[in-house]
Amino acid sequence: MNTDNLHNLLYEALETEIGGIAVYSTALKCAQNDDLKKEWQEYLEQTKNHERIVRSVFEQIGLDPSVETPGRLVVRHVGESLVKAMEMAKSSAPPEAAQIVAGECVVFAETKDHLNWELIGLAAKKATGDTKKALKEAYDEVEDEEDEHLYHTTGWTRELWIESLGMPAVLPPPEEQKDVKTAIGAARAKNARGDMT
Ligand SMILES: [Fe+2]
Ligand SMILES: [Fe+2]
Repeated sequence: MNTDNLHNLLYEALETEIGGIAVYSTALKCAQNDDLKKEWQEYLEQTKNHERIVRSVFEQIGLDPSVETPGRLVVRHVGESLVKAMEMAKSSAPPEAAQIVAGECVVFAETKDHLNWELIGLAAKKATGDTKKALKEAYDEVEDEEDEHLYHTTGWTRELWIESLGMPAVLPPPEEQKDVKTAIGAARAKNARGDMT
């Protein structure tokens, strides 16, 4: 295990969760659909909890959460750009279009978040001692929620686009109706959407 890069990953994961709070707070201002608002409000609360969980991993393995790494600066830049993109849409586009932009921005943010936790899960299997324990406990608490954040919001964004194109949309999306938590489940749910419209 390359410990330096495991630490780099953890700094990026912390920054992703911090940025995620700003992304959801802004996305909520763009949300129009009540079910979507409810969903993102829940994800915002979960993301705040994820930040606490990552900070507790830092404590358990003796990492200083205030250290700036090149990787976390990149993650912060991307997060701030996503917030700016949503603000741009909110001030210049119709509300329905700004809502779709927010969906796309959440998917961008959650793609990174999901990758971080997938890697943390793999690292937890290889690690030993206190590091293994800290990573595994954090992963077990977070992973299911990250699956929902990514797959359900991807579904929302696709269906909101479909609706805006004047075609029959499935809202809430099949990923949410079928409570999808895996990539295979997401593919199946998307495949079944034709029968749901
Ligand atoms: Fe998260
Ligand atoms: Fe997330």
